[in-house]
Amino acid sequence: MRKKIAAGNWKMNKTFEEGQILLSEVVNMVKDEVTNPNVQVIVCVPAPYLSSFGKMIDTPKVALGAQNCYPKASGAYTGEVSVPMLKSVGVSYIIIGHSERRQYFNESDAFLAEKVDAILAEGLTPIFCCGETLEQRNEGIHFDFVCGQITNSLFHLSAEDLKKTVIAYEPIWAIGTGVTASNDQAQEMHKVLRDHLASKYGQEVADEISILYGGSVNGANAQELFACPDVDGGLVGGASLKSREFTNIAKSF
Ligand code: PGA
Repeated sequence: MRKKIAAGNWKMNKTFEEGQILLSEVVNMVKDEVTNPNVQVIVCVPAPYLSSFGKMIDTPKVALGAQNCYPKASGAYTGEVSVPMLKSVGVSYIIIGHSERRQYFNESDAFLAEKVDAILAEGLTPIFCCGETLEQRNEGIHFDFVCGQITNSLFHLSAEDLKKTVIAYEPIWAIGTGVTASNDQAQEMHKVLRDHLASKYGQEVADEISILYGGSVNGANAQELFACPDVDGGLVGGASLKSREFTNIAKSF
């Protein structure tokens, strides 16, 4: 069975102390309330907090995630953080290709392919984000565009490595806007993406990949979204900054 995932992307929010409070609340609530053994909760916290916050997590129900990485293992790359560094402080998931990084930091599909390789080489799990703009959806090119992002950054992988990746479909028009994709829109795209994976790797491999939905997921809409057959969980921004709401999302499978 595919793993069900509730991943919180804190983005550039919370001071160290605020983050400590939020994380300890999330860990305690998840320990007590998330009873489905197939659910993995992931908290992707700001990089400076990873080492310290990793030590606060005392349950396998919650995993530590990073929001970015650089594809080189070490060297003269001032300001960047490598995958071996993240691994050494207990990170097991790394978000890559978030639309904010693609947009503000000009990250290309080819650069993301390098990051995927660097993450898999260390035995960590990439959460690969993809998604279209509203203009692309209105033009009717959204399926081709998002499938193209996957082709360009993931299709060089072996089937074995592809199975170790998580995909997050995040329509850009739904991120931080309060406008969630409808259940039908999410399911439709997730099915297209799974069929796209199957076209190269076969149905059996495609059926093993967790595909998350992201974009204004909250405690009120998570249950319906996660009930869609090809939606395996959520990548949650704003609502992951509230412990009660994020835990409720993790209980929505
Ligand atoms: P949002 O962000 O839940 O605040 O829309 C989702 C994301 O960007 O991962």
